[in-house]
Amino acid sequence: MRIDVLTLFPEAVEPFFASSIIGRARAAGIVSIHCTDIRDFAGGRHQKVDDRPFGGGPGMVMMCPPMFDAVEHVEAQDATPAARILLTPQGERFTQAAAHQLAEQPRLLLICGHYEGFDERIRQGLQPREISVGDYVLSGGEPAAMVLVDAVVRLLPGALGDEESTENESFSAGMLEYPQYTRPREFRGLAVPEILLSGDHARIEQWRMAEALRRTRERRPDLYEMIIKTRPDLSRFVDEGARS
Ligand code: ADE
Repeated sequence: MRIDVLTLFPEAVEPFFASSIIGRARAAGIVSIHCTDIRDFAGGRHQKVDDRPFGGGPGMVMMCPPMFDAVEHVEAQDATPAARILLTPQGERFTQAAAHQLAEQPRLLLICGHYEGFDERIRQGLQPREISVGDYVLSGGEPAAMVLVDAVVRLLPGALGDEESTENESFSAGMLEYPQYTRPREFRGLAVPEILLSGDHARIEQWRMAEALRRTRERRPDLYEMIIKTRPDLSRFVDEGARS
């Protein structure tokens, strides 16, 4: 997969894309990531990328010409067609399902905005898919692009080692994680649940499923409703878990 990121602050995102699982996936040739500075496509002496809104009002609006030039320049670097994505609080909410969908694409082009917003013709002319990472306003699309790239890259085949695989995530798709423990067995009076030390793998799996469901029901009733609607058989784990 190739990912292009158009931003006014490449220096803010590049170190993130060089670290951890993303950095490793790049080194392994699983993904290539290219950051492009939108300001390089700004005309004039002042390299202007934004201007005051027509009709008046506060703030600045990102201009069309540098944005279109940057998109066209970057897209022409590779014949693979890119899925264009605009990071904006006005977009559809980003989910794990969307991450899976995007992980199937050969190429993504992410556009990070700044200032008060975009000239509407950026939406009209470039027709990007608009994605929000949550119902809050960031000062720019960069943290949102990092969230999206992280969620997508870890799903690419080979990006995670066997130890970190996402297999367990599909088993428990749509639920919150069950509680995890590691050594020591007892810490400041807090003991590891006995069942995890039992070696009885079938019972451990049951316990984990019950805990994941219980936690989801408590903390995210909206997710729990959805799971039980599609998998009514799972509710038995919660009842069994409560008994054991
Ligand atoms: N840019 C500013 N806020 C954002 C958000 N919540 N999601 C995506 N992009 C953004």
